[in-house]
Amino acid sequence: MQVLDSIAEAIGHTPMVKLSRFGKGLGHNLLAKCEFLNPGGSIKDRIAWHMVCKAEERGQLRPGGMIVEATAGNTGVGLAMAAALKGYKLTTVMSAKVSQDKVKLLKALGAQVIITPMGKATDDPDHFINRARAIAAEQGAWLSDQFNNQDNIEAHYQLTGPEIWEQTEGTVDVLIAGAGTGGTLSGAGKYLKERKPSVRVVLTDPVGSVQSHIFNETQGNPAAYLVEGIGGEIIANNLHLDIIDAAISISDQEAISAAYDLMRSEALFVGSSSGCIAAAAVSYCRRLSLDGERNLNIVAVLPDGGRAYMSTIYDDSWLNEKNINLRENAIR
Ligand SMILES: Cc1ncc(COP(=O)(O)O)c(C=O)c1O
Repeated sequence: MQVLDSIAEAIGHTPMVKLSRFGKGLGHNLLAKCEFLNPGGSIKDRIAWHMVCKAEERGQLRPGGMIVEATAGNTGVGLAMAAALKGYKLTTVMSAKVSQDKVKLLKALGAQVIITPMGKATDDPDHFINRARAIAAEQGAWLSDQFNNQDNIEAHYQLTGPEIWEQTEGTVDVLIAGAGTGGTLSGAGKYLKERKPSVRVVLTDPVGSVQSHIFNETQGNPAAYLVEGIGGEIIANNLHLDIIDAAISISDQEAISAAYDLMRSEALFVGSSSGCIAAAAVSYCRRLSLDGERNLNIVAVLPDGGRAYMSTIYDDSWLNEKNINLRENAIR
């Protein structure tokens, strides 16, 4: 029988789709790694399950225990799945920036949700990461700590990287993704470079985040931006800059337009970080073409789906309120 023991076995092995319409005329093969097709709806299912299994092996998590995590939502969903299957309690701490859809979703999945004020400095006790750390310490809970936990990187090194390698039969030339914790780029990027040192790893960064400025050694102050889950005001420990070859900045307007475009042209319904990464992939293809390169295989990692953004980027009044004017081809 083709029956899984639990839904956890459905994590990973996501499809890779050629973006022949979205990427038309770019002179390169744009390939999307569809991480939004994981059972919990995002790439974070991979790391949540891996971090929990590893913590159990080390005796950091015991039966009936409590998990605490600071999350933009998706890691929380992955952890909620692990908590349900393995009998743990889960508390998630999120910044007020995240969509209400994600808050409702996490509550529906059985997690306790704590919201911290938006825009707090990284050394402020009310910053969502610091609050999660304090709650874990107070409650004697296990902090999964995706920003520092090496098992986050390891999940991508053991799963995401090899899948991309196999799906492209080793012909991948460029990996492009965003960085929240950095796990995707550091883990999958390291694996692919070990297999093929010429692979280039490209960081997608929302305008307002400082990651690309730090990488490019340019001047840039942190500013608010709308794209969720990637970028930030610091480089997380799990984002290994030595693995990155280039960084591309993308505005909210471009990112959101590209998310609409992906649905209109490829029937891929995705979130804002996917739009941002797809827009960066287009921009990087143009850069490569200017340098005279042609026909490279560019793999863009699309982290999550559009349903978590129905009250934000897929809501007309929200777009108006935030002054986002979609590019014309995005609304055709
Ligand atoms: C929506 C979304 N996209 C992308 C990412 C980035 O992935 P990573 O943490 O592996 O850098 C995250 C997580 O932080 C996310 O929530």
